[in-house]
Amino acid sequence: MKNKNKTVWSDRFNKPSSKVFQRIGASIHIDKRLYNEDIFASITHTQMLIKQKIIPKKDGLKIINGLKKIKKEIDNKKFKFKEKFEDIHQNIEKRLFEIIGQSAGYLHTARSRNDQVVTDFKIWVKSASLDINKVLNLLIKTILKKAEKNINTVMPGFTHLKNAQPISFAHYLLAYVEMFNRDKKRFLNNIDLIDECPLGSAALAGTSFNIDRKFTAKKLGFKKPTNNSIDSVSDRDFAIDFLSAAATCAMHLSRLAEDFIIFNSEAFSFIEFNDKVLTGSSIMPQKKNPDPAELIRGKTAINYGKLNSMLTIMKGLPISYYKDLQDDKELVFDSYDTLRDTLSVSIELITNLNAKKNNMRNMAQKGYTTATDFADYLVKKKNLPFREAYSISSKLVNYAEKKRVRLDQLSLNKINKFIKKFRMDSTKIFDVVSSMNSKVSFGGTAPKNIKKMITKYKSGIK
Ligand code: ARG
Repeated sequence: MKNKNKTVWSDRFNKPSSKVFQRIGASIHIDKRLYNEDIFASITHTQMLIKQKIIPKKDGLKIINGLKKIKKEIDNKKFKFKEKFEDIHQNIEKRLFEIIGQSAGYLHTARSRNDQVVTDFKIWVKSASLDINKVLNLLIKTILKKAEKNINTVMPGFTHLKNAQPISFAHYLLAYVEMFNRDKKRFLNNIDLIDECPLGSAALAGTSFNIDRKFTAKKLGFKKPTNNSIDSVSDRDFAIDFLSAAATCAMHLSRLAEDFIIFNSEAFSFIEFNDKVLTGSSIMPQKKNPDPAELIRGKTAINYGKLNSMLTIMKGLPISYYKDLQDDKELVFDSYDTLRDTLSVSIELITNLNAKKNNMRNMAQKGYTTATDFADYLVKKKNLPFREAYSISSKLVNYAEKKRVRLDQLSLNKINKFIKKFRMDSTKIFDVVSSMNSKVSFGGTAPKNIKKMITKYKSGIK
């Protein structure tokens, strides 16, 4: 076999690996995505080796130049990735030999693919987390814009999908801003945990070379080197944390999508979407379906699945590196790609959403949604204990239900049968807008609160 085609370990082996094993053992089609991180880490490692006089400077500089050339080749799609060299690390090392000759042999001093891959991957996950946060910021901005236009839009708030109490559509939307802000924090918290550099742990035991791990860690943008070489090569907590944050974020998107699907139904008709985010039916000419929302909801399964797979890979793995770990990258990449797409589609959905304010308001008036306001009024104005007021209000609801009228349609005479000296101007107690406006408690749905919150959220983004 020509030297060019030999694997790194060919001197020890008498036979090439079987075709099918070569295929499933190779990860190059997945981990080529790490080429930037891999070259960055290799250059830094080489700089450290030169600084520590572990390798000759002349060869080290050749390595660095060669690596830069390889980066350009890959950037310009001129690089030929080869399955027989398994992964991105060996593809790059092999190409380095082609470009600079035997000096390339110094690169892998005091490191192993085990610490190399986890270093590359950590760098990637860090920047992916920041990228997701950028998109989350865009999503939050989009929601805030929509909320600003709907501060006074009254709709029924639901519990058990039964009309509960009048709320502002903006307040409803801002509930999601809270969720997405927590998601942002989760991704940021993860970065804090990722921030230790494994490079220099070598295969699992560390190395006898006088390496400077602090130098490497700093240059690669980590706070410090990892403490334990065994943990360094076997730890994938950071991947699990990313997948977990992604799964939670996807769950939030899915709930939003589900709400939109319900609100967009003919039965609810609370919102409508621009044609840009709808699809038709191949048989029913009248249809306009909210497919993007359904895809967001469906794809959550992918984010959940990847997390579950990663946890399962780890659960029985003896400590340190095993090839099982190779699939970690595909899981995280898929989860990231899926989440990025569903976040972007969510932004589109919200941008192209229009609130059908009259329908929302009409629905808010159904189901005696101000019965609690009436009870609260009795507590405040008639000094009744809440339970007694609740009971009177229940009876009023029963009466209105029997008469098939809304609470605000009851005459003063009728109401006085349930509570003496109820004044006419007090009937505004049954009005859905005044109900919404009255919820001034911190975090409540009063427009006054909402305006303050929108300002606060905006200053949190910038
Ligand atoms: N491609 C491998 C992975 O992603 C790199 C590490 C290989 N290490 C080894 N001991 N086979 O996990």
